[in-house]
Amino acid sequence: MDKFRITGGRPLSGRVTISGAKNSALPCMAAAILTGETVTLHNVPYVRDCLTQRRLLEDLGATVLVPDLRTHKIAATNIELFEAPYDLVKTMRASVLALGPLVARFGKAKVSLPGGCAIGTRPIDMHLEALKLLGAQVRLESGYVVARAPKGGRLKGGEVNFPKVTVTGTENLLMAATLARGTTRLNNAAREPEIADLAELLNRMGARVRGAGTETITVEGVEHLGGAEHTIIPDRIETGTFLVAAAITGGELEVKDCQPRQLESVVAKLREAGVEIDEVNPTTLVVRRSSKGLRARDVTTDPYPGFPTDMQAQYMALMTQAEGRARVTETIFENRFMHASEMQRMGARIQVESHSTALVAGPSRLSGARVQASDLRASASLVLAGLAARGETTIERVYHIDRGYEKIEAKLRAVGAEIERVRESVTAQLPPVETVTA
Ligand code: EPZ
Repeated sequence: MDKFRITGGRPLSGRVTISGAKNSALPCMAAAILTGETVTLHNVPYVRDCLTQRRLLEDLGATVLVPDLRTHKIAATNIELFEAPYDLVKTMRASVLALGPLVARFGKAKVSLPGGCAIGTRPIDMHLEALKLLGAQVRLESGYVVARAPKGGRLKGGEVNFPKVTVTGTENLLMAATLARGTTRLNNAAREPEIADLAELLNRMGARVRGAGTETITVEGVEHLGGAEHTIIPDRIETGTFLVAAAITGGELEVKDCQPRQLESVVAKLREAGVEIDEVNPTTLVVRRSSKGLRARDVTTDPYPGFPTDMQAQYMALMTQAEGRARVTETIFENRFMHASEMQRMGARIQVESHSTALVAGPSRLSGARVQASDLRASASLVLAGLAARGETTIERVYHIDRGYEKIEAKLRAVGAEIERVRESVTAQLPPVETVTA
């Protein structure tokens, strides 16, 4: 397994270009299942999760052409399999996004239950309850969800009230509703920008979606959807991660091809904490730590437009360098503080009070150490801590970070970071070859 080796203490400076949003590309790729015509997606980030989603589509029988690294031409013309298998879903929970489109277009789907992951149990009960409201019969069978549209093969429109905000739950139901007979209303829908991006693609395919990005989404079902072309929005979490990278190293970065209005809560909180962020044009931010230094500020994660849970670990890393004590409150996932214990090994003063609150006292002088990544955003926070630490940090299991950040070490090196990927050679992992005696 690859590692990162970082020598910290160097202020970053220069220009970073933001890639497409992983959490928009994944549902948009799944949406291609809704039609036999070609769906062309531009600005797909070159990250492991998108490679996994592509494999799922090809396993189902779709054709995925990649004329260039970030353009995917998907044609789900000859779908022969209606199953998202366990070994794929267990590596990437977002494979469950095949459920809604498969039931909507083919009237059947068999999708492995995702099982838990490092940050929590992450059930999909709300996806299933909502699909039943659209007439689907849903049963569990040896760790799989087996879903069937009512006889006649089409879902029917209905009223869905999500008890909690669920991003992929909203996306699954949004896609399922596009081909249902009649009108569907999704109440307490997720409002993340990735939902509006998916809705834009669906409407280009001929769907009739209104209200995406608000808490109530209305979908008029249609008979069928066609092909379309769409450009994925920039990744707001990658943007936030680089804003923190500039602030935590005391450097200055120009962050290009981003959409500042998608991360207003992050920009506002960072400014409160002493980070200067200038919007030089609608797609470019310039960021630096203020000369007065960083100040500890509490944060609570919330569904969009609140402070995103996917930025919590990165913000905690920044607070280790801020004057004072900051309380970090995580309200979305039940186990998303694993990065705290790794940062403590680097000298951070963090007290995890419960599964939802942690207290960070700063500033701490971080020193390099061997640390282990546990999930995608925790890995990013350890990279940030390593950039700020004195000496050398080695981060193990960086496959976690490869899931959601495109070439992060190349982007960081280009703005002055001393970071290299240490490839664990394949032979190093193989058992020694037995010498054959004559
Ligand atoms: C999406 O996950 C994102 N993933 C996550 O990003 C992100 O952290 C999360 O939304 C919250 O913003 C993708 O978009 C691919 P949820 P999702 O359903 O949809 C509970 C990253 O780092 N819940 O909004 O799986 C759930 O356990 C990833 O890029 C149920 O109880 O999250 C969680 O506590 C990590 N039952 C809360 O709701 C359900 O049926 C929010 O989950 C569904 C969810």
